[in-house]
Amino acid sequence: MFIEVFCPIFILGYLFFFLLSCMSSLYILEINPLSHAHVATSLWDAYSGLLSHQSMILSMNSSFVDPLLQFETQLKIIKSSFNMLVAIPSFDKVKKMGTSADDVEDLVNLYQNILNIYEETLLILVSKDLYKLQILKEMILWMSEDGSYLQERIMVIITKVLHFASREVRGNTSVDAPCLGALAAELCLLCSHADSSITEQASFGLHYLLHIAKCQTGKNDSHEHNCFPPSSDVAFLSKSFQDKSKISQRIGQTLLPSLLTDFVWSLLKKLSAFDYKIASDAASLLKLTLENHAQKLIMVSKIVDVIYKQLCENSSHCMKHAMLQIITLLIRTSPKKVIFQLMDYPVPINDTLTLMWQAAGSEAKVAPHVLKTILLVLKGKPGERQENLMERRRSSLDVTNMMPVVASQALCTLLPIASYKKAVAQFFPHLLMALMLQLFYSGDLRLKRRALKHNQYAQDALRALLNCSGLQEVDIALKKKNCWNQFSQALYQQHGVQLIARTLCEFKFPQFPETLYYLYKLSVEGPRRSEDSIVTVIFLTELLNNFLKDPFPEEFLVLFRNWINDPNPSVSKLSLQKISSMAPVINEVENVCSLLICILDAFLCKDVTVVMRALLTLRRLLAKLDKVTYSTLCNRIAYSYCPLMDHSNASVRSIAIRHFGELLKDMCQYTWMLNSVIIGGLVPLILFLEDKEKRVVEACKHTLEICASQLKWPISYLFKDNNYSFELVVLSICNNLLTTHRNHITDLISDSLGFLGSSRANLRRASTVLIGYLTKVGGCLLLRDEIEVMLGAIERVLRDEDPVIKELAEITHNIIRGVLHTTTSSTLKQNFQRFFKFFYIKKLKPLYNYNLFFKNQTDNPMENKDIKNDK
Ligand SMILES: *[C@@H]1O[C@H](CO)[C@@H](O)[C@H](O)[C@H]1NC(C)=O
Ligand SMILES: *[C@@H]1O[C@H](CO)[C@@H](O)[C@H](O)[C@H]1NC(C)=O
Ligand SMILES: *[C@@H]1O[C@H](CO)[C@@H](O)[C@H](O)[C@H]1NC(C)=O
Ligand SMILES: *[C@@H]1O[C@H](CO)[C@@H](O)[C@H](O)[C@H]1NC(C)=O
Ligand SMILES: *[C@@H]1O[C@H](CO)[C@@H](O)[C@H](O)[C@H]1NC(C)=O
Ligand SMILES: *[C@@H]1O[C@H](CO)[C@@H](O)[C@H](O)[C@H]1NC(C)=O
Ligand SMILES: *[C@@H]1O[C@H](CO)[C@@H](O)[C@H](O)[C@H]1NC(C)=O
Ligand SMILES: *[C@@H]1O[C@H](CO)[C@@H](O)[C@H](O)[C@H]1NC(C)=O
Ligand SMILES: *[C@@H]1O[C@H](CO)[C@@H](O)[C@H](O)[C@H]1NC(C)=O
Repeated sequence: MFIEVFCPIFILGYLFFFLLSCMSSLYILEINPLSHAHVATSLWDAYSGLLSHQSMILSMNSSFVDPLLQFETQLKIIKSSFNMLVAIPSFDKVKKMGTSADDVEDLVNLYQNILNIYEETLLILVSKDLYKLQILKEMILWMSEDGSYLQERIMVIITKVLHFASREVRGNTSVDAPCLGALAAELCLLCSHADSSITEQASFGLHYLLHIAKCQTGKNDSHEHNCFPPSSDVAFLSKSFQDKSKISQRIGQTLLPSLLTDFVWSLLKKLSAFDYKIASDAASLLKLTLENHAQKLIMVSKIVDVIYKQLCENSSHCMKHAMLQIITLLIRTSPKKVIFQLMDYPVPINDTLTLMWQAAGSEAKVAPHVLKTILLVLKGKPGERQENLMERRRSSLDVTNMMPVVASQALCTLLPIASYKKAVAQFFPHLLMALMLQLFYSGDLRLKRRALKHNQYAQDALRALLNCSGLQEVDIALKKKNCWNQFSQALYQQHGVQLIARTLCEFKFPQFPETLYYLYKLSVEGPRRSEDSIVTVIFLTELLNNFLKDPFPEEFLVLFRNWINDPNPSVSKLSLQKISSMAPVINEVENVCSLLICILDAFLCKDVTVVMRALLTLRRLLAKLDKVTYSTLCNRIAYSYCPLMDHSNASVRSIAIRHFGELLKDMCQYTWMLNSVIIGGLVPLILFLEDKEKRVVEACKHTLEICASQLKWPISYLFKDNNYSFELVVLSICNNLLTTHRNHITDLISDSLGFLGSSRANLRRASTVLIGYLTKVGGCLLLRDEIEVMLGAIERVLRDEDPVIKELAEITHNIIRGVLHTTTSSTLKQNFQRFFKFFYIKKLKPLYNYNLFFKNQTDNPMENKDIKNDK
């Protein structure tokens, strides 16, 4: 219902308004403003215009219209009222125009009424909604653009409206007046206006505004409340509000954070004002406000961004200085926000940003915070996907993290600043390691192209760090060693890190204790990435090598022990290398056993080079280890070699087999402990006699001889002159087993069965022969179930693609079947086994004739070729 009635009124009012405003502007153009009739007419026109504007505004107070739209329309109408107002002839002229005293009085009354209507309209609007105080701010802007002679009168109106509003809100703590900040900024600037009458009005206005603001903060000092200030205070008030530091203090104390931010924001925009006086007034107000109240500001990063954009534009030198000073003030209270904002800009940092960083760096008090923030960013890896560290700042659009590069570059600016010296010294180890890591990351091949360029910043920052930490000589020495030039090469990274660490040690860098402590802390906390561990291990190793005597304290040893089984092979190897160097003092190390066991765990590593390094390290340590400790572990170590004897890498096989033999030799006084271990390794030792790699064969021969001598088996003659037969070795060993280790035969058979399925023909062949002999000597010990399993396994070999293996498998098959026929029942056999040792079994004769092929005679064409290759 209401809308239907209201809308036509609204539209009609609008039409009327347009017509009127067109007409009045025509009049003003055409007539001579100085003639009496025309002055009167223009005053009447203005009067009726303002009246109709007022009625339009009042008819628009419906809650059914969108408030924003409503406000915009009202503002538009107020603006045209304002234009009418400033177009009327000046008061003095009006007075002069009067033809008689009555006439003058009429005209003056009319004049006054015009102003009253305008004021009344504002009061009505503000009384309904304090939000509309914003109109006052707009009025000040219009006023300054216009330069009207009416400025003072307008200021009076503004002040009156504020006075009215301040009375309205008395005792109300929920005042919604979001424009106070911006309005305060305008009034503050007017407080230093050249015209003292304007200054005075602005001071009053500000005074009332602060009353309103006080209500918002719930501050209740009622004695100040009920006033237009007493006349004695007028002079005092306007004087005290010309003192910028007092203004800024009261503003800073009174305005709510969001409004204070608006205040700062408005002043910031004034810095690029064309009028130099306004700009410099704004600058000094900003400085005073931020010096004491910056902690209250919100949206600091946005302010920094505005400053950046203004600096990039063409601003005068003075204003540049003022803006940079703001950065310095902001960083005092919000170092993190400012730093993160500065790091948000793309690399490389250009001159403008460098100025901003320098400004940020000129506040020594916050240097530790700034460095901490930068260190936090340096934990990131350039180009890596964002992690939760900075999720606040980045949208999904920008997934790669270039902040660490910016951080490195920023350090180049910050580190040499004199006021940072103390903080830099405090964070030396953190900065050193963070920058080393950045250098290290930049060698990552995936990043290569961009990294080459970015590498430079981390390097420059590192050099600056050395330079400002009293380590210039280290920098020079590294330069001589050509360290810096090579860092961009991917393969150089590890060596580069080592070189830097070593050079620092050479010069006995005084920051050693805190660096060592920091490294320790880093290691205990655990790295963020595996690269981190590499750098830490290299550094720590160098420090320990240079400053501490081996064996270094248990605390550090624990770290190296854990690194042995690090997922990163480089870390494992570095750690093993350091541990290996401790062989001469191994018996002084606490917890040797757990150290050795960690090395054994590395045998299971997928990386061949780690396994190799672990084998060699263990051997070096065992050679020096005292025999009592050794004996407690020798079984465990020996068993750890067994799986490596069957390793896919021939070097690992041969080393494991040799070291197994070395262990037996070391432990020759403890043979009784090792018999079962020897039996455990026997099957691979025999089978790998048939390995294609000569070094493996040699290793087997060597170790078998050691085994045989431990077990007192007279078989070493078999290997004389490099002329031996595999079958004769097997035969001989089986004969010896028969007399000394009968009860292990079943185990040996089950070990050998595993090799029947090997992908390597030489192993299938050798195991076929070995199983045959073992069955022959141990058949009577086997249970029927076991024999059936064996038959199943050998039957698969009967279908082998290799004809020689097929032939051998047939023989073995027959042997096993023969045993099966002589077997009666399982229960009988178990009884039989119990009394087995009382039976005599006849010694074996060769079964396969495979035996008579000697190593350097023709066997089959394939084999022949392999042998030639071996040689
Ligand atoms: C609009 O303002 C007039 C005059 O102040 C008042 O009488 C009327 O009730 C107001 N209408 C609404 C909808 O607020
Ligand atoms: C202001 O303080 C007076 C007394 O000091 C108290 O009576 C009044 O309720 C307070 N008003 C508010 C809004 O806190
Ligand atoms: C305070 O002002 C708000 C609007 O600004 C008004 O809604 C509220 O009724 C007022 N409260 C008092 C106690 O005057
Ligand atoms: C930059 O400022 C100089 C002098 O202040 C002026 O001559 C030049 O036109 C300005 N350039 C721009 C793009 O505003
Ligand atoms: C800095 O870079 C910005 C864009 O990122 C550019 O607008 C500005 O002109 C540059 N300033 C200087 C001094 O190079
Ligand atoms: C090291 O500092 C000196 C001044 O103390 C300076 O001249 C030199 O350029 C700096 N070198 C580097 C690499 O930062
Ligand atoms: C065995 O490992 C070593 C060390 O990694 C390597 O040099 C060699 O080529 C490997 N041999 C084979 C046969 O894979
Ligand atoms: C190798 O040894 C076998 C017996 O073990 C012997 O019959 C043969 O003559 C030897 N051959 C050579 C070349 O020494
Ligand atoms: C291998 O055979 C060759 C003749 O074919 C013989 O001279 C040599 O002694 C044999 N034994 C060894 C170990 O080479």
